[in-house]
Amino acid sequence: MRAFLEVSAGNVATTAVMDYYELINRRRMVRNFTDESIEADVIVRIVTAGLQGPSAGFSQGFEFLVLSEADEREAFWDCNEHNPQAESIRTAPLVVVPFACKDAYLDRYAEPDKGWTDRDEARWPVPYWYIDTGMAAMHILLAAVVEDLGALFFGIPSEDWPVLRSTFAVPDEYDPIGAIAIGHPAETRVPSSATSRDRRSTDAVIHRGTWQSA
Ligand SMILES: Cc1cc2nc3c(=O)[nH]c(=O)nc-3n(C[C@H](O)[C@H](O)[C@H](O)COP(=O)(O)O)c2cc1C
Repeated sequence: MRAFLEVSAGNVATTAVMDYYELINRRRMVRNFTDESIEADVIVRIVTAGLQGPSAGFSQGFEFLVLSEADEREAFWDCNEHNPQAESIRTAPLVVVPFACKDAYLDRYAEPDKGWTDRDEARWPVPYWYIDTGMAAMHILLAAVVEDLGALFFGIPSEDWPVLRSTFAVPDEYDPIGAIAIGHPAETRVPSSATSRDRRSTDAVIHRGTWQSA
């Protein structure tokens, strides 16, 4: 699997085509999966989509832990001691953990074209390492939809980070921004925040020309 991933990196397959607006409307978090497996080439396409995300200074300070084998996933769920949701989503045949690396950004922006040689974190208006990794995660979520699968982005409590890092030999400078469970949606939908709350209206969210409403 690893060799296959390396060979395929950078070559996003374009087998499935869907209108973009249909795609973003179809993407809804799925919290209940069958245990049906996902074909290896589909997994490659989904995770490779993450590499196509934008990044500040093209720092690309994100990396993905891809867990597609049963024993790997078991080891992952064993790390989720503080995640009450873990039990209900562990049937998903694929888990991708996107990690953000702040040092990749501090190093990149210390290069001559950027010139922040002091590597001072105060220079960053917001932590771009988390933003970029979140955008990469979104690419993965959307790729899952294109592949006719469902996905859930869920948080990993920071108490569980040390055991996660040690279980999978992840260096300390990589932060898991969350995890993505991917699989075939089961018929029963699990209620969530989105079940009981409406999506905000365009009028409430979009400020045309000025923040003040007329
Ligand atoms: C940063 C982030 C963290 C989230 N964490 C969880 C989580 O831990 N568990 C969960 O069920 N959903 C989680 N969600 C999913 C949100 O609940 C979901 O996106 C929201 O209710 C809107 O629903 P939709 O994505 O289906 O449109 C998370 C989403 C984001 C962006």
